[in-house]
Amino acid sequence: MDHFNFQENGQLFAEQVPVSAIADTYGTPCYVYSRATLERHWKAFDDAAGDHPHLVCYAVKANSNLAILSILAKLGSGFDIVSGGELARVLEAGGEPAKVVFSGVGKTVEEIEYALEAGVGCFNVESEPELHRIAKVAERLNKVARISVRVNPDVDAGTHPYISTGLKENKFGIAIEQAPAVYQQAAAYPQLKIVGVDCHIGSQLTEIAPFIEALERLLVLIDQLAEQGIVIEHLDVGGGLGVPYDGEEPPLPSEYAAALRQRLQDRPNLKLIFEPGRAIAANAGILLTKVEFLKPTEAKHFAIVDAAMNDLIRPALYSAYQAIEATDRNLQRETAVYDVVGPVCETGDFLGKNRELAIAEGDLLAVRSAGAYGFCMSSNYNSRPRPAEILVDDDETIEIRRRETFAELWKGEVVLP
Ligand code: LLP
Repeated sequence: MDHFNFQENGQLFAEQVPVSAIADTYGTPCYVYSRATLERHWKAFDDAAGDHPHLVCYAVKANSNLAILSILAKLGSGFDIVSGGELARVLEAGGEPAKVVFSGVGKTVEEIEYALEAGVGCFNVESEPELHRIAKVAERLNKVARISVRVNPDVDAGTHPYISTGLKENKFGIAIEQAPAVYQQAAAYPQLKIVGVDCHIGSQLTEIAPFIEALERLLVLIDQLAEQGIVIEHLDVGGGLGVPYDGEEPPLPSEYAAALRQRLQDRPNLKLIFEPGRAIAANAGILLTKVEFLKPTEAKHFAIVDAAMNDLIRPALYSAYQAIEATDRNLQRETAVYDVVGPVCETGDFLGKNRELAIAEGDLLAVRSAGAYGFCMSSNYNSRPRPAEILVDDDETIEIRRRETFAELWKGEVVLP
């Protein structure tokens, strides 16, 4: 459930604020987030894990605005990061380094140094050479690196091929059969402390079964490691829980966590770590955009809007479906079927195809479920300044990132004499 609803007057509201007022004040396109929705989704995971020891590590990549991170930090969230930049954001937003898990297949020496100096809670190691690199950097800095091995359990999560991560042919993690040998190597390094086992099998999963399959494989591994004298303190199950974009019915965080906890009944001390991104942020945000032109052609009707693939790339990149609706239901408009497209010079620049909409020039549209993998994947392609981001907190609006200016487009560049 989110806090973007139509009120009786036919207007779309973000919490207590009509989105049309946000467009009037801040212009379009802009992202609008609901604080109550974000908090509700984070708490859904936290509550679902109940009294089993656990930590919800929000996946920063889904939406890394400092305001969003600071809201979650205040709730006590941990963070899953994949770069030095994400760590810097978490620290800037007031996140606790000890609650950070550091994932990603290509950690550089500089990033490892930075994370060790900051005191991150755990490196999720994705390859043997990375293990050796972390050990070397830790030795040089005279630090102990807390590590877990990201295991690839070879489970088919049944997601879009670009976002599946837990299959043998994906670049992520270490094959589960090789994991015990890698743990043995880790145990031999005095500057490494083994703390966990980790996996992440994919994103936008709409069934519980693949999560459970992965969990069961990891539990077998944990027992195997115990026989070798390696004690595992935490089990990081990654992120990946899906959201309804187009009528999907993914399990609720409570159902998902209950299924996991059931398998962990006899392991009350095995701490659970979650790395949800999308399930927390996606439906806590919309992208507001204005219709610039309606362009009927022989083959199609186009609604040309002021947001484009540079603002929200998911439709263009993954053919992802995101619901689009007019924000004022009172307007008397003719209904037609439109491709909703942006001004960018690419045929792939669309936000939605074949959408039945009753709209006219100047109308406002909301692209739903845009809070995750929206702004954070945006670019300046076609020299388009990136949009503003607005947070709604009850009846208050806060500009948490202002629209970029033209001068910011070329920040750091030079004109040659
Ligand atoms: N942990 C790790 C190690 C990950 O790689 C990811 C996402 C997550 C957690 C969070 O997954 P989530 O709960 O959000 O599913 N840009 C794509 C999604 C890419 C996800 C990459 N990894 C999209 O727009 O659909």
